[in-house]
This record gives sequence, structure tokens and C-alpha cells, in this order.
Amino acid sequence: MRLLFIGDVVGAPGRKMVEQYLPKLKTKHKPHLIIINGENAAGGKGITGKIYREFLEQGAHAVTLGNHAWDNRDIFEFIDEAKALVRPANLPIGTPGKGIVYIATEHGEVAVINLQGRTFLPAIDCPFRKADELVAEAMQRTPMIFVDFHAEATSEKQAMGWHLDGRVSAVIGTHTHVQTADARILPKGTAYMTDVGMTGPYDGILGVDREAVLRKFLTSLPVRFEVTEGRSQLSAVLLEIDAKTGKAKKIERILINDDHPYFE
Ligand SMILES: [Fe+2]
Repeated sequence: MRLLFIGDVVGAPGRKMVEQYLPKLKTKHKPHLIIINGENAAGGKGITGKIYREFLEQGAHAVTLGNHAWDNRDIFEFIDEAKALVRPANLPIGTPGKGIVYIATEHGEVAVINLQGRTFLPAIDCPFRKADELVAEAMQRTPMIFVDFHAEATSEKQAMGWHLDGRVSAVIGTHTHVQTADARILPKGTAYMTDVGMTGPYDGILGVDREAVLRKFLTSLPVRFEVTEGRSQLSAVLLEIDAKTGKAKKIERILINDDHPYFE
């Protein structure tokens, strides 16, 4: 089973990259399951129902979120009906939405889990204990389990990879917007990567207008962060998972930008 996961789509430039390259990636890699992290898809903050539906129409089977999940209030209008939308699972009881969804593929069902780290991010429930609970639940249905771990600290992400090694098919990090070069398969068969990277503006700072970010660093004045224009990039990862055992067989980084041009 081939799974394509596209990292943090940022605003209109990110959505344009998905529109432009997802058809090519589908033709080239023929993924059976496509997941997009869309927590920054609406103007860099949150997601709308329209954008969620566009992702599904373009071929995504699930859309994961993160700490910006609630930044566009439109989410409250559609989250209850959005069967393929996954928000961080370790949020307090009573938070709308789901932290795990099951997606049917031609090779069987895949559990898609979203968790959020707690280091340099708001104090929420323990992602490790929540992972244990959800993985035990998912294993009753399928050995193919994908985890998008939305977290800031590399150490917390590595810890999650080792914590879940052999119990899930993949632990892929999101949130830092910079692709890491540590894609690997852990000894017990879990594909791991600290961060898949961001899909959106290439010349900003994490996708945001760099002048505003610089002003913030150079002065103590409040600034308004806007998604920047100009060149764009796409960051993703391609996984091959044994449908019977759920173990990862292959992990391949995908990075498309002017310094890493796309080849058919
Ligand atoms: Fe984030």
C-alpha cells in the first residue's frame, strides 16, 4: 500500500502547489492513500469547509490538522460532518471533531491519527498515553496505522517514533515547516521522519512574509503575519506499507522547489 503525505499546506500558494503537482505525483507514484496536513491552508491559519472539500476533490482521502485547527472559525460549521478530517486526538474531552479516522483503500483500511506535542506548545493531554490508547483501538481493526505528530521539538518527535516503533506503520512529524533529512525505518518497522516540511511560499519565513517576521525579531513591536507571495514549494513523503503486517517497507522524501526541481 502506497501512502502519500503532503506536509503543512500554507495559504493560497500552498493550495496552488497541491493543484499543480498532486496530479503529477499521482501519475508518477500511484498512491492508494493521500493525506494532507491542512492546518494552515486558509490564509496560513486554520481551514475552511471549502478548502477541505477541494482537497478531497483533488484526491486527498484524509486531512490532518494541528495547533492552528481552530484559527478559522469556519471549522465549527463543518467539523461534525467532515468524516475525513482529523484534529489532534489529545485535546480535552468535549473538543469537537475526531483524532482518529479509518479510511478504506483497495489494500484494506488505514487508521489515520493526529497528535499534538506539548513541548513549546499549549499544555494539553499526554500525546504518548493518547497514542497508546488509539493504537490499541486501531489494531483491533487494521495493522496499517499512520500517525501525523504535530509538534515543535525534535526530541519529542523522535521519542514518539521510538515509543510507537513496531506498533504503527509511520510516525511523520509536521508543524516546523522545514523538511528534515532523517527519513528512516525504525528497527521494528515504523517509518519515521521528524518533519515532512511545508507546502507553500519558498522565500518567506516558515511561509510567512519575511519582512514582518524580521521586524518582530528586530523590534519588540507586535506585527501582523501574512502568507507571503513569490516562489513556492511542495514537501511530502511517500511510504510503502505491507498491508498484511502494517510494517513500513520504504520511505522516500519528496521536495519540489526551484532548488530541487521536479522530474517526471
Ligand atoms: Fe502547527
